[in-house]
Order: sequence, then structure tokens, then C-alpha cells
Amino acid sequence: MPTALHHRHLLGIAGLTRASLRDILDRAHAHADDIASGSVEPTLTGRFISTLFLEDSTRTRISFETAATRLGASLIRFDARTSSLSKGETLLDTAQTLIAGGAECLILRHASSGAVAHLAHALDASGHRAAIVNAGDGMHEHPTQALLDVYTLERRLGSVEGRLVAIVGDVLRSRVARSLTHAVQTLGGRVHHVGPRAFVREGTGAPVFHDPLEGTRGADAVCFLRIQHERVGSGGGSGRSTYLPVSAYRRLYSDAVEGLIPEGAIVMHPGPVNRGVELGIETLNDPRCVVLDQVSAGVPIRMAVLERALLEGRGNA
Ligand code: NCD
Repeated sequence: MPTALHHRHLLGIAGLTRASLRDILDRAHAHADDIASGSVEPTLTGRFISTLFLEDSTRTRISFETAATRLGASLIRFDARTSSLSKGETLLDTAQTLIAGGAECLILRHASSGAVAHLAHALDASGHRAAIVNAGDGMHEHPTQALLDVYTLERRLGSVEGRLVAIVGDVLRSRVARSLTHAVQTLGGRVHHVGPRAFVREGTGAPVFHDPLEGTRGADAVCFLRIQHERVGSGGGSGRSTYLPVSAYRRLYSDAVEGLIPEGAIVMHPGPVNRGVELGIETLNDPRCVVLDQVSAGVPIRMAVLERALLEGRGNA
């Protein structure tokens, strides 16, 4: 990340230090305790935050909105479908309009890898001070998902250090896998990328396993990913020639891996889950499955991220 870029932005996990991750995680653990005891301090009262989601979302969007509301901030919900983007306005002009209207932090989801960083650079260059938070950009990064995933690992397993996380599925097209791999490794854990050749390749920052038995052996957590049908053919040199039929994937990976999950391990999935494809109904109902814990974790994590974006001197490492 170029040094010119202000540290109040959160564009990705790559480049964040272990200390920065720790600051966000520790603040999130404290927020979770305050939520449980009903004593959240509204540290963002009077602050304006805008959600700018140019790609569909359920969990990420509602937990950012819940986090902002819990901290007392006011939300400007930008609706892309009814906006002037459809009249040809650029993303930069849209963002500048939201900032001119009072938004101090923009939470951006975009279908193109790099679009969020590009906007942050453009806004910085135009002298704006608004913070940009990446809520998922194409196949690049999804930093708050990775943070809530490692937070969930800490809650369930105590620590990420020395733990093995097997990420199973469409790793190649997954921003979740990319960010989670960085986060686990930065916190001293290990990651395996597991899947068929169409979904997992060498050079993505972790050892690759095409054999599910080998890839998940000894794992403390198995994180399943959705098959990113909408991204098949975009990037990664992929296309129909590398696409594995869902039935074959289900048989070779989901069924096989679900039967092998070690007793003390946890089962993760960022959602949305395609029931019966990446995960069977039995596994979703298994007490080892933490999918809804991950959703709950999204709120304290995003509270910590919004404070980092908006409050000078708190966790701004
Ligand atoms: C993911 C996303 O949108 O990147 N979901 C999420 O944010 N919880 C994963 C996916 O779409 O499969």
C-alpha cells in the first residue's frame, strides 16, 4: 500500500501488521462483551456513515448497518439501483456527492477487484478526508469478513496462533479466501487451500491440496466457500473449460470433506450457503458449525473497524 494513503482506510488485510489486527480484534472482543451486558458506549454519535453497495449483500450490509447504529452513528444508505449511476455518473462523482452531503466514511462493495483502493486514492488525491472501508471488491479482498472469521476462531479455539485452517472450495475466485489467508498467517496460523484444479492453484499464498483427505488432515477449522458462479470466466484465466459440474464437486469435495472433519474442529462458511452444494444440511445443523456465530461476529468487528476509520488515535495503527 503506498504510504500516501491514509491509515484510516481499510482496503485489505494484506499489508496490515499483526499489531493492527490485534487492535481491531481486541476492540471487537470488548464490544461483544458490552453488547452482551447492554452497555455499548455510543462513540460515533453525530457521525455520518454511508453504505455504497454496488453488488448484492445480506450479511455484510446488515452487520455494517447494525454496527453503525449500535455506536450511535447516522446512516446514509445509498441505493445504487435508483441512483444517478444509472445515468452515467462515475463512482468518484457519486462518492464526492455523498461526502459533500456529509458522509465521513464510505463503506464500499464493488464487483471489480481494485475499485475500492482506486477510489480511496482518487479521494485522497482530491483532498478529501473521508475514510473508505472495503466491504468486498471483486476477487481481491474482503477484509472485514477475514477479521470476523479470525475473531470467530479466537472465540471458539482461544487463539489463531499455531492453528491450521483448511479453506475448501472455489479459492481462486474468492476474496474471502484471499483475506482470510493473510489474516490467519499474520496471526501465526497456517492455511491449506483445498479443491479441484478448477478452483485451487499454486501461487495463491498457501500450500495447495487437490486431495481433500490430505488437505484437511489435522485441521482445527474447515472453511467452505460458495462456488462463485457469477465469477466463472472473469479473471484467473478461467472459463467453462476449467469449470467443474456442481454434482461432481459435491461428490468429490463437500461429501468427502464433511465426512472427514476432525472431532474438535469447527466448520465455517462466510455465507450465503447453497444448501446441499458446499455444505449438507446435517453439517449445517452440527454443533461444530459456526456459520451463525460468524454472522454475529460481524457486528463487533465492524464496530471496531468503524471506530478505527472515524476516531483519531484509537486503533489507527
Ligand atoms: C461473501 C462475499 O460476498 O464475498 N459473502 C459475504 O460477504 N459474507 C462470499 C460469497 O459471496 O460467496
